[in-house]
Parts: sequence; C-alpha cells; structure tokens
Amino acid sequence: MSALVAILPGDGIGPEVTAQAVRVLQAVGGVEPHEGLIGGTAIDQTGSPLPDGTVALCRDAEAVLLGAVGGPRWDPAAPVRPEQGLLGLRRALGLFANLRPASIHPRLLSASPLKAEVLRGVDVLVVRELTGGIYFGEKRRGTDWAEDLCVYTTAEIARVVRAAATLAQGRRKRLTSVDKANVLETSRLWREVTSRVLSEEFPEVKLEHQLVDSCALKLVQQPSAFDVIVTENLFGDILTDLAAVLGGSIGMLPSASLGEGARGLYEPANPYGAISSVAMLLRHSLAREADARAVEAAVFAAIDRGAITADVGGSATTAQAGDAVLRALQEAR
Ligand code: IPM
Ligand code: MG
Repeated sequence: MSALVAILPGDGIGPEVTAQAVRVLQAVGGVEPHEGLIGGTAIDQTGSPLPDGTVALCRDAEAVLLGAVGGPRWDPAAPVRPEQGLLGLRRALGLFANLRPASIHPRLLSASPLKAEVLRGVDVLVVRELTGGIYFGEKRRGTDWAEDLCVYTTAEIARVVRAAATLAQGRRKRLTSVDKANVLETSRLWREVTSRVLSEEFPEVKLEHQLVDSCALKLVQQPSAFDVIVTENLFGDILTDLAAVLGGSIGMLPSASLGEGARGLYEPANPYGAISSVAMLLRHSLAREADARAVEAAVFAAIDRGAITADVGGSATTAQAGDAVLRALQEAR
C-alpha cells in the first residue's frame, strides 16, 4: 500500500522546488502524490486561499508537501490573502509543533554572512508553537487603533514543550525555552508550564530559559551553543528566519509541522530545502527512517559535488540540483 501524500505547490518558487521534491519522493517509492491548490494561485482560480477540496485532500493524506505561499502579486492588505491558506491549513490539521532544524554543509560556509568559525558545529532545532498566540488571537480594528490578542493556555504550552523535550531526548538533551517573561504575562505562564513539564516528565533533559532578545543575539554570536529551542508562535517565526541564516539561506532549511498523530506538513523554499523536507516527511509521517537518512545523505553528496544553487552562491538550476540528488540516491542503492 502506498501512502497518499498531498502536494501543494502554491506560489512563487513553490512549484519549481516542489517538482524536484516529488521526483525524489517517487524515487524512494511507496507514495502516491496528489496535487491541490493553496495560496495566491488558489485565490486566482477559486477565490479562496484554502479551497474545501484542499482541506479534504490533506485530511485524507498521510503527509502534505507544500511549496510556498504569497508574493508581491497579492496585496497584503486585501481581505483575502495567500497566507490565510497556510495558517488555515495548520489550524485545520492541528499542526501545533513546527520543527526547523539548521545546520550548514561545509561547502556552503562561504554563502553565509557569518564567519566560518562561528558556524562550525552548529546543529540547532527550533520548535515553534504554530496554532496559538498572537497569530490566532482576536483581531480588532477601530478608526485610529488596532488590536491583536495573544492568548496561551497551559495545555497548548505543555503539548509543544513535550514535543520539543522528546526531540531533545534523542539529541544532546538540552532545551532552551524562549520567552519574554520580563514583560509578557503569557511568557510568565510559558516559563512556569515549561519548568513543570521538564521537571516532572523529562528530568534528564537540561532546561534553560532565555529571553527572546538575548536569544537572537546569542544565535548569531554563538549558535553552536544551542541544541533544541522551543518558543511561542511569533517569536518562533522571527527566530526561525534568523536560524535560517545559519544554514546559508532560508531555502536550505527544511520544515516539518506536526500535530498529535503522524500526519505532518512539510515546507521548504529551495530544491535542497524541499528535498530535505521530504526526508523529514519520510521520518515523521511515514516512519521510514532509513529512507529519510538516504535522502539526507544524497543531499549532502549533491552539495559536496558542487551542485549549488544561486541563492547560496552557486550556479546550478533547480532541476540540476534535483538531478544531482537523484543520482546520489541511485548510487547509494
Ligand atoms: C512561516 C511564514 C508564515 C508564518 C507566513 C507565510 C504566514 O513566515 O512559515 O514562517 O508567519 O508562519
Ligand atoms: Mg516565517
């Protein structure tokens, strides 16, 4: 039986990079890809950024591979916006934990604006809460004022902290919880709940609390000091873009969004990010660890041989990067 995987190419660079990820999925086999509409492309064709058919397809699927949503073609102030498609899908599928791992391939060190010695040994995983906080709180607008409410419940905090602590257990057993407890009430609750979950359920994981501003500073100054970071939705949005610089480019980073079950949403932004997201999909949604590792090794080998895309200082096209990964994958079999 092959696994149904929903493919949502979306907007901008999305279709181009997703096509390469689908080639890799087909090469590893055992999956049945089905395409759906999301984002600006879906607005243009159906009037909605998240058509009902797409939600139904994703609910039936074991995993969802998404390209990208939004772009300069769509007005960010319009009542219907591409980004609503992605936010709606995260919410509809209950994907409360977003995993964005960052590490850098030695060949890409020069593509990063940071010094090579700062980047050596970097292996950080940011776990971002994805369905709560200010993103989903009530929004109000008056004539000369606007309001976005930030709400977190104990249960919402505990479940994402558990997910992050479980991942830390399988890594270097260090968890940094990031908040703004010197200012925000939600952050004070976040800190309390995190301390309790860790001491009661994960005594072997070393927990450290850090304020979001000093975390941003340390991520640039001494990124190798981090193992797993867990944080709320808005801080996570900002810190994951910052962490992306550690990998050379935002596109290099894969991303997995997970909920209670195995179903996950995987999003990238360049062919390697897309293909590395396929590796995460195989690992977290389909329980195919050996195939996940084979795909990761093939990405490493392709970059090693110089198939480097323009966003990280090379000249390979998206398709050439895909070709290089497929070749490495075939050689390894
Ligand atoms: C991300 C993106 C989204 C977010 C946008 C497109 C709504 O920036 O996945 O990090 O803010 O969550
Ligand atoms: Mg973001």
